[in-house]
Amino acid sequence: MDSTTSGSAKSDLTEYLDKNYSRTRDELFDLLRIPSVSAKSEHNADTARTAEWVRSALETAGMKATIFPTPGHAIVVGEWRGAPDAPTVLVYGHYDVQPPEPLDLWTSPPFEPTIRNGNIYARGSVDDKGQLFLHIKAIQAHLATRGKLPVNVVVIAEGEEEIGSDNLEKFIEDKKDLLAAEAVVISDSAMFAPRQPSILSSLRGLAYFELNVKGPSVDLHSGAYGGAVVNPAMALAKILSTMHDDNGHIAIEGFYDSVRTWEPADINQMKTLPFDSETFRQETGSPELGGEKGYSILEQLWSRPTLEVNGLLSGYTSEGAKTVLPSKAMAKVSCRLVPDQNPADIEKLILAHVQKVAPKGVTATVKFLHGGRPWKAELTGPLYDAARRALATAFAKPPVLVGEGGSIPVVGDFERILGAPVLLVGFGLPGENAHAPDEWMSEENFKIGMRAMATFWDEYGVASKTD
Ligand code: BES
Ligand code: ZN
Repeated sequence: MDSTTSGSAKSDLTEYLDKNYSRTRDELFDLLRIPSVSAKSEHNADTARTAEWVRSALETAGMKATIFPTPGHAIVVGEWRGAPDAPTVLVYGHYDVQPPEPLDLWTSPPFEPTIRNGNIYARGSVDDKGQLFLHIKAIQAHLATRGKLPVNVVVIAEGEEEIGSDNLEKFIEDKKDLLAAEAVVISDSAMFAPRQPSILSSLRGLAYFELNVKGPSVDLHSGAYGGAVVNPAMALAKILSTMHDDNGHIAIEGFYDSVRTWEPADINQMKTLPFDSETFRQETGSPELGGEKGYSILEQLWSRPTLEVNGLLSGYTSEGAKTVLPSKAMAKVSCRLVPDQNPADIEKLILAHVQKVAPKGVTATVKFLHGGRPWKAELTGPLYDAARRALATAFAKPPVLVGEGGSIPVVGDFERILGAPVLLVGFGLPGENAHAPDEWMSEENFKIGMRAMATFWDEYGVASKTD
């Protein structure tokens, strides 16, 4: 059979993937059953077991696979270097998952994968085990059917993406030779709509901090002391309320100084996407949408920075009433950043702002938890040509370019340290409940994703030769 995937005949790769699908699905379910929750130390053994599972899957696929311990969770690297004169491509994914809580909101238990309505429900199904595994299987399809790939491939799977990838940047620096590549491919995002293949053109960055407000040394009787002692919960509310103006604009001095305005061509391209704001509102369940005035929803999500409270804690919060003046209050706050904002600069601005607005009678401190740079793709060259063609073949529809509001901090690190362009091609779908109860991945997308990525290797082999 012809080794290309064009035409209507089933390619050897597709045939292999189809023939082995039920085993592949069983394997994916095994992977999804391991609760590799990176944020919780009680799951450290599970997370280590998952790293071993991924190592063994890479080996089964035909790669040499190694586990590299880190001060946190291990990094797994698979290598196939049987194409000496061809370029090398690095595939990145993560095998850790978000905590599944609240458990009572799951229809089926988070670590018992279940198919309903054509979707695979499990924590990590789409973010990112299913998407990591589809790459491993696409590689396996080549090595099993042809004994080779058109290019060299290195797979790197980390176990700390959901907690900020603390040990990854240093690992990439230290292992520059092992990871050296002409291109990087990542599937850890969603398509714009069902059956609409999508390539990401941007990601937002992140500056995440904890704001602590301290007042009296202990909780006080709110009658005996209230009125005379500054209340930290009220002080925190006051500080937070200074962070936006009435137009939803962030009111921190200098915050927008390095925001790059999107090119009119990018905005126009965005406007061609079929987007319905009412459907979007319904998906969120919010009574009304808000945000920064003067921007469309997609502009707000993709091209504008944000400052959002992620969590609040103070005083008495359980059943009934307790008259107490809390001694402290805390907020977790995240800023999503856009090019060319830099997390380190934003941290300084936030610190200065909090110091300026904190009321007298309390002390306010800011602790930065993690950060990541925003990213914008170049979108040209053999990597993107190959991806466009592979997606068009697999979905019978050309891909669209979409922005993204979330963050994958390692993308900027790969580009900077390896000097390689990064392709973000995701197979999730809107409403997939990543990080939430009832996370799912479309089974059809899992299958087409495997096919698309198997085709991608052929296309990249061709594109990188002619370029
Ligand atoms: N898979 C997401 C990244 C993502 C989010 C892609 C939304 C597309 C849409 C990833 O696992 C994630 O959640 N990243 C974190 C980064 C943080 C923990 C540093 C995020 O965006 O909150
Ligand atoms: Zn993810």
